Amino acid sequence: MKQLKLNNGQMIPQLGLGVFKVQDANDLRRSVTDALKSGYRHFDTAAIYHNEAWLGEALAESGIKREELFITSKVWNSHTTYEDTITAFHESLKKLQTDYLDLYLIHWPSEGYNEKWRAMESLYAEGLIKSIGVSNFEKPHIEKLLTTAKVKPAIDQVETHPYFQQKKLHDYLKSLDIAHEAWGPLGQGKGHVLEDPTLAKIADAHNKSIAQIILRWHLQRDIVVIPKSIHTERIAQNIDVFDFTLTDEEMTLISMIDKNQRGSGDPNDTEWLKESLNRN
Ligand SMILES: NC(=O)c1ccc[n+]([C@@H]2O[C@H](COP(=O)([O-])OP(=O)(O)OC[C@H]3O[C@@H](n4cnc5c(N)ncnc54)[C@H](OP(=O)(O)O)[C@@H]3O)[C@@H](O)[C@H]2O)c1
Repeated sequence: MKQLKLNNGQMIPQLGLGVFKVQDANDLRRSVTDALKSGYRHFDTAAIYHNEAWLGEALAESGIKREELFITSKVWNSHTTYEDTITAFHESLKKLQTDYLDLYLIHWPSEGYNEKWRAMESLYAEGLIKSIGVSNFEKPHIEKLLTTAKVKPAIDQVETHPYFQQKKLHDYLKSLDIAHEAWGPLGQGKGHVLEDPTLAKIADAHNKSIAQIILRWHLQRDIVVIPKSIHTERIAQNIDVFDFTLTDEEMTLISMIDKNQRGSGDPNDTEWLKESLNRN
């Protein structure tokens, strides 16, 4: 598995398994077991997914050494203060049955994120988190964070797929040496990206699926990907993307199908962010 070096020197496996919307304990246990068998070592969850405990159980039962795993979780929007963030982190840690996280992210740029960051910096200084980062942060959010931050985020996890390529944000993150991580890397199975004719042609040429072409395209943009699936075959397929390379021409063709079309939540939707403070 290819690893990327983050701006603090820590390594991250460039491909992992996402577990958003896996709301059944058996589905989660089975997909994590399948993923481990296929070679995944990186897992992405969040407190708001309400499945950290199942992921923790599945990883503990696997017998794989903790240092071989890379575990990410995220602090939810309802925690707006320093103390709350510390408490939320320890709850996640307990559910995940571990004594440190590899990556902890601020889930959305909602109220109090500079304070949350201060708490994450403390946890990072104590060695309880190997790397700290943000999610759904756009340029203005990062600029505001950096007015008080002592530690620069290692990663920004944002919606990214061929119909929402985030070219400007990608270049901005690169200029700051903040790694770009894609959520919804396959367009969340929505918006017909998995039936796109340009991608279908490239897939035929490589004898791969459209999903594999998309994941390969992310990897060649130096993006970290965390595709989610609960199907054995797809889990295996999604990691089988290290034995071929897209040509420069194919990369250019894919860059041209961008529709700048968001599929889910918008970090600029201040009303939604306010409402999310009351959700748990
Ligand atoms: N930070 C954030 O705000 C945020 C937001 C959303 C997601 N995330 C993270 O990012 C991860 C990935 O994003 P996502 O789960 O929203 O979307 P995604 O990975 O882009 O797409 C998942 C969908 O694609 C299907 N799929 C997976 N592999 C496939 C394949 N090879 N062929 C055809 N269909 C396939 C899955 O179906 P099956 O499961 O039925 O196979 C599922 O419906 C999440 O799980 C979560 O960890 C973070």
